[in-house]
Amino acid sequence: MYDVERIRADFPILAREVNGQPLVYLDNGASAQKPRAVIEAVTLAYSHEYSNVHRGLHYLSNVATEKYEAVRGIIARFLGVADERQIVLNSGTTEGINMVSYGWAMPRMEAGDEIVLSVMEHHANIVPWHFLRERQGVVLKWVDVDATGWLDPQKVIDAIGPKTKLVAITHLSNVLGTVVDVKSICDAARQRGVPVLVDGSQAAVHMPVNLDEMGCDFYTITGHKLYGPSGSGAIFVRKERLAEMRPFMGGGDMIREVTKDAVTYNDPPMKFEAGTPGIVQTIGLGVALDYMMGIGMEAISAHEADLARYAGEQLSGLNWLGLQGTTEGKAAIFSFTMEGAAHAHDISTILDKKGVAVRAGHHCAGPLMEHLGLSATCRASFAMYNTRAEVDTLIEALDLAHDLFA
Ligand SMILES: Cc1ncc(COP(=O)(O)O)c(C=O)c1O
Repeated sequence: MYDVERIRADFPILAREVNGQPLVYLDNGASAQKPRAVIEAVTLAYSHEYSNVHRGLHYLSNVATEKYEAVRGIIARFLGVADERQIVLNSGTTEGINMVSYGWAMPRMEAGDEIVLSVMEHHANIVPWHFLRERQGVVLKWVDVDATGWLDPQKVIDAIGPKTKLVAITHLSNVLGTVVDVKSICDAARQRGVPVLVDGSQAAVHMPVNLDEMGCDFYTITGHKLYGPSGSGAIFVRKERLAEMRPFMGGGDMIREVTKDAVTYNDPPMKFEAGTPGIVQTIGLGVALDYMMGIGMEAISAHEADLARYAGEQLSGLNWLGLQGTTEGKAAIFSFTMEGAAHAHDISTILDKKGVAVRAGHHCAGPLMEHLGLSATCRASFAMYNTRAEVDTLIEALDLAHDLFA
């Protein structure tokens, strides 16, 4: 039995008021709140167990290293990866995709080579590929979504041609909530010898993920959306791709030996982890993932599916709301505009007065906004601790905004 009130009690911030109203936090797509277990782990790490990792031979360095390194295994378990040496720890998705762009794609792509993308990618999965377009003439091939926000996997597969060197695709849209059938795309791409990078920043938060089954080549996660600290994250890199990839940044523990004339590198994944890492952030991420697995990803996903259904019904009852993204089985992420009104920023300001936190803007998805013909939307994005009652509060606050602007 999913006890949402017990889960809420684990997140201290949810008990606070904002603008004199109980907080209704629906900006989880941007960043999620942290459970007490994570807050306490971070405090413990700094107050009792802090040191730099890997290099020291003293007690605290060993404790910090053990705790930090254990997170690699936790992430591997969370993502269904048998061999944890395929997990590169980093600061989040943006770093992960830039690493692939510089370290793997740049040296193996030339003018005219193609990268297939969907139109609903986040800028973090667009701009690193634009670098290759600008600097070496790589072609970006865009696949559209339909009017409901659904991405037909066959369209992605059909876009793969002889010049395609990579498919870079989101697992779950941060604007529309659309879940992409990445398994079919990975299967077809593998048959054509084309690697697939999946942006899992949103999906890993909301549904069970098994990368050994999915068969992708790269999969990114970002800690702050997974109820962990900001500045933490990881990228799964299939071992064949690890062997092909050049290090992106140099320094720290990514080396084996450095002389005046030469450098030799550490084995992967360390080869790709330069400099002092986000030690405490990563330890906090491990605790956050353990917390999620303790509740169970199936249970979280079922709870959020109920919220998605309920919120979908309630929001579509507001006939002055322009809802974007209406696919069957979508995640509980709702983007909308309001008829006759109000810029998205104005709507979110009214909602904020009622204690309801949503995000307004382009959501770092410029090509999708262009496709939708919009400059901005409001986005309510739900998490494991949200409730049906909070959906009702959102609807009341939207009614109020509509009355004000009508
Ligand atoms: C789908 C998606 N990809 C990538 C990112 C970027 O994540 P980060 O800024 O943590 O690197 C986000 C964050 O909003 C996202 O929603």
